[in-house]
Amino acid sequence: IEHGRPARAVPWWRGERERLLECAAEGTPVYAYHLPTLRERARSLLDVEAIDRRYFAIKANPHPALLRALVAEGFGLECVSLGELEHVFAVLPELDPARVLFTPSFAPRGEYEAAFAFGVTVTLDNVEALRNWPDTFRGRALWLRIDLGRGDGHHAKVVTGGAASKFGLPLGAFDAFVAEARMLDVRIGGIHAHLGSGIVTPAHWREVYAELAGFADSVGTVDTIDIGGGLPIPYKPDAHPFDIAAWAAGLAEIKAAYPRYALAVEPGRYLVAECGVLLAHVTQVVAKQGIRRVGLDAGMNALMRPALYEAYHGIHNLSRLDEEADTTFDVVGPICESGDVLGAQRMLPAATREGDAVLVADAGAYGFVMANRYNLRALPREDVLE
Ligand code: LLP
Repeated sequence: IEHGRPARAVPWWRGERERLLECAAEGTPVYAYHLPTLRERARSLLDVEAIDRRYFAIKANPHPALLRALVAEGFGLECVSLGELEHVFAVLPELDPARVLFTPSFAPRGEYEAAFAFGVTVTLDNVEALRNWPDTFRGRALWLRIDLGRGDGHHAKVVTGGAASKFGLPLGAFDAFVAEARMLDVRIGGIHAHLGSGIVTPAHWREVYAELAGFADSVGTVDTIDIGGGLPIPYKPDAHPFDIAAWAAGLAEIKAAYPRYALAVEPGRYLVAECGVLLAHVTQVVAKQGIRRVGLDAGMNALMRPALYEAYHGIHNLSRLDEEADTTFDVVGPICESGDVLGAQRMLPAATREGDAVLVADAGAYGFVMANRYNLRALPREDVLE
């Protein structure tokens, strides 16, 4: 603990260099996932007593080994498409549908009907769906996703509350939704909000719970309040880990004030980001008009986050971990776009050269699952370290 906040731990991959070099030698780009780190993150949430139900937002990383590990730890799963639902029940045929949430956005009618057929908990976030598709929803139990009128997050593109965002029922439409639901004999069993991703303020979630509890009280049939995901991880070298203790204390306090609701959370990134690394090989090292560039066989096709959100990922020369990182390089990929930069002005060893294995850190969330075949490059491989 430093200044009352949790200090950074040494990342797992420093102790797994040999295994990772072997994995890279079998072909890059490759994502490698470290299950002990995943379990450690999962258990840090199991320790938070105020939480009654934990769901993993599988959009962050639907790899079967990760899903199995998290379900074994007691997590449920949150899905946002029929494809994710089918994947979950293909990987875990015995999974109780009561442990699965379906929280889509602008999904077609048929996906809601398929979700009801699976027996999972369906969340709706607009009144139009009830009005336009009464036969789909009549007599059902639903959760309602509310937009509390504000959002937060690491980048404007991942803020999911407020008028500019497409998600959530605005507060002004709440009474109309409840009235429409009553007419259709729809039971609102849960109230949900997810206002963004990568939110660094521990107080955010207790405030959301308090506001949602007010709405839950006025509905009368609610048993669960889901305060979303959005927990951050420290991507940058000077960032602090999320203060889980402060977060847990806030939740305990607010849960004591509104004890009649089960408290649910649905993080993605927090669970899986740090257990995953992207491994690549250096293709070329080029100096052009005063800028040195290290080229990798992985770029925005393998990891979109830097190009899409200006996201930061630590980049390390795994072949030369013992050498001092004393020279500035732009780290670029093989894609024909100027935005194909995984990291600008990064420090790497001066001797970095073709064939070195390079590690891109904290790539387990929204990494492989957002990769694409632009320029007809192959998708990365994936590998799991037990
Ligand atoms: N629940 C809902 C309803 C969500 O929409 C999301 C993420 C989560 C939970 C999990 O959020 P997390 O705990 O992972 O922050 N591709 C972006 C992140 C997009 C998040 C979309 N929704 C990125 O790479 O930063």
